[in-house]
Amino acid sequence: MRTQIVFGCLAVVGVLTAQAAPAKAAEAVPDPTTQREFGAKLLVCNVCHGENGVPKSAAIPIISGQQETYIAKQLEDFRNGHRNFEIMTWMANTLTPAEQGPAAAYVAKKSWPAKRADAAPAAAATAPRGIAVCQACHQQNYLGAVQAEGMTAPRLAGQSYEYLVEAMRRFADGERANSPDMAQIMTGISVADREAMARYLSSL
Ligand code: HEC
Ligand code: HEC
Repeated sequence: MRTQIVFGCLAVVGVLTAQAAPAKAAEAVPDPTTQREFGAKLLVCNVCHGENGVPKSAAIPIISGQQETYIAKQLEDFRNGHRNFEIMTWMANTLTPAEQGPAAAYVAKKSWPAKRADAAPAAAATAPRGIAVCQACHQQNYLGAVQAEGMTAPRLAGQSYEYLVEAMRRFADGERANSPDMAQIMTGISVADREAMARYLSSL
């Protein structure tokens, strides 16, 4: 299923690349709502991240309505190899450097998808231990925010359990190294506590 999605997607990108013509106004900020080629590139994102913001699988993060500067940084990190995930490196590279910022703005402006009816039950009244620390950066409601020094903490509330727990594991195991702060924080948290936190955050 995942392989099919990937191959379907690569085929679309192949077509796009083949058609790409150097016909854009050099000075203007790229706008996916008026530039067909750019708009078409962003349609490809929906193959995995979903048309209405609901990703096609739980391992794929929600990006619609995510913090804009966080999205922009991730696209840059995928591009320059600070964050490793082959498909996303590939996808980030379909965008020109000038399109990256406008792409992030476009995605961030969409709304975060409504909670699914069959989602985990509403957050348990008691937040798991240790999670208060996360609010310093991810904010009280875990909606994320721009931090000092230009860092941006992403929204965690309502992200899928599978994606969150895996992201936390990768920070802890040093596989995701694009945030020394997060790597350090996650190394100090047990697997059981990470699972409890991910469960809680996904239910918000
Ligand atoms: C073939 C499937 C696929 C396509 C197409 C795709 N993505 Fe992704 N994307 C993923 C997966 C899977 C991840 C999670 C990577 C990981 O686990 O580190 C991801 C992660 C991301 C992230 C990081 C989100 C976060 O919370 O850290 C951003 C931003 C993103 N994608 C943007 C895009 C954009 C913009 C496009 C279109 C140009 C796109 N993606 C196309 C599969 C895809
Ligand atoms: C010092 C500020 C800070 C604290 C405290 C913090 N975070 Fe983060 N977190 C960040 C930043 C900044 C990022 C984005 C890193 C990047 O650029 O990829 C992030 C990213 C994440 C991600 C990746 C989300 C995604 O979409 O890929 C998860 C999951 C996460 N944090 C969970 C937590 C949890 C759980 C805690 C508490 C135990 C916590 N964080 C505490 C700043 C912080």
